Amino acid sequence: MQEKQSIHGAWANRWIFILAATGSAVGLGNIWKFPYITGENGGGAFVLVYLVCILLVGVPIMMGEVLVGRRARQSPINAMREIAVESGHSAKWSFVGIMGVLSGFMIFSFYSVVAGWVLHYVAGMASGDFVGIGSEDAGKVFNGLLGDWKTLLIWHSIFVVMVMTVVAGGVNKGLERATRIMMPALFVLLLVLLGYSMNTGHFGAGWNFLFQFDLSKLSWDAVLVALGHSFFTLSLGMGAIMAYGSYMPKKASISSTVLTIAGMDTLVALIAGLAIFPIVFANGMDPGAGPGLMFVTLPVAFGQMAGGQIFGFLFFVLIAVAAWTSAISLMEPAAAWLVETFGMKRSTSCVLLALTVWGLGIMALGSFNFMSDVTFFGMNTFDFLDFATANIMLPLGGIFISLFVGWFVKKRVNLDELALEENGLFYTWYISIRFIAPVAVSIIFLVNLYQKIAG
Ligand code: PFF
Repeated sequence: MQEKQSIHGAWANRWIFILAATGSAVGLGNIWKFPYITGENGGGAFVLVYLVCILLVGVPIMMGEVLVGRRARQSPINAMREIAVESGHSAKWSFVGIMGVLSGFMIFSFYSVVAGWVLHYVAGMASGDFVGIGSEDAGKVFNGLLGDWKTLLIWHSIFVVMVMTVVAGGVNKGLERATRIMMPALFVLLLVLLGYSMNTGHFGAGWNFLFQFDLSKLSWDAVLVALGHSFFTLSLGMGAIMAYGSYMPKKASISSTVLTIAGMDTLVALIAGLAIFPIVFANGMDPGAGPGLMFVTLPVAFGQMAGGQIFGFLFFVLIAVAAWTSAISLMEPAAAWLVETFGMKRSTSCVLLALTVWGLGIMALGSFNFMSDVTFFGMNTFDFLDFATANIMLPLGGIFISLFVGWFVKKRVNLDELALEENGLFYTWYISIRFIAPVAVSIIFLVNLYQKIAG
């Protein structure tokens, strides 16, 4: 059989795929969200549940997504349709891809706003705005930024253009080139910052906060947050990894690449926690400060430490790079779909998508100022977009993908793509994707939904 190719191109080799997918996975989820939700949910026990979710649910589903993408060599909407039809099922399975594109838009819109905060802080750190600042003033700076829709709009717009430019460049000249430059930079920055935080003298406190498990502190809510976050952080349930998988070399092993990606993503989240919490504790601050943790606590800490200005600057550059490589993967599935389905030029499709997410993003940034009284189910637009994607749409996408790959795709096809015999490794994955992942996600999902509705 002639080997299929994607019309969009292919990664040069297996490592580029690993790095690109890691670039998608490692983002604001790891460096902004993971530390603050860990702080809000009490630390160690939450981390343990999160790790279990990654291993039992995230890894098998990621393998499923890559498998479907690589076999079809098309964007998620078309890939789902093609693989469903190939296995003798309804073309309507493409709805999973459609829901994914929709989730991508929604995530992008609030993601870009946070990335805009990060860019603003890069500029602020560079110009020494935070040197010697106290926590009250830092809080004022952050709240001032949130209230200032014009500044938010400028940074949000810049970020959308940054992402659009890369995606418009295509798989090789855009995505791959960005990966080759940004991922090594990201790792170096992360290690530099880890070294810095090891010297704060409070490394042990940060370590204990992350790794001391007190299961009595765990709530159902926290389990849902951990589960939702495992999808968010691995970019699962919306087709980003499926799209990246469609450019993956045929020879590369899906199981080992996916394990590497998930491992690196987890490592970065833990290192980010180990870089941030010691700084928080060194300055006697509250780890449960919420979304502002990174934007209030850290600038104060950096502002008071030797070399803080330069390391603070590097820290925010690191986050900006991480957010950039992730947002690229939020746009790629829809861009590829427009090109495949309507024969659109990639650049045209990217401009169209950029305008869409830019508009949605304005609603997200308005949550903090001119639209602060608009609420959905008691949440402002920003929180609603975050909640609806991470806690509802991505887990739902994950349930459908696991059911699809586990029960509808022919076993022979799965064996072929994973290049496995019917051995222990295959059956471990097969049992996870058929039973463990969909059942666990459904139970947690339904119990939480019930609790929310029942009040
Ligand atoms: N994984 C990214 C993060 O942790 O920040 C967020 C994300 C990117 C989610 C791409 C979904 C996605 F498709």
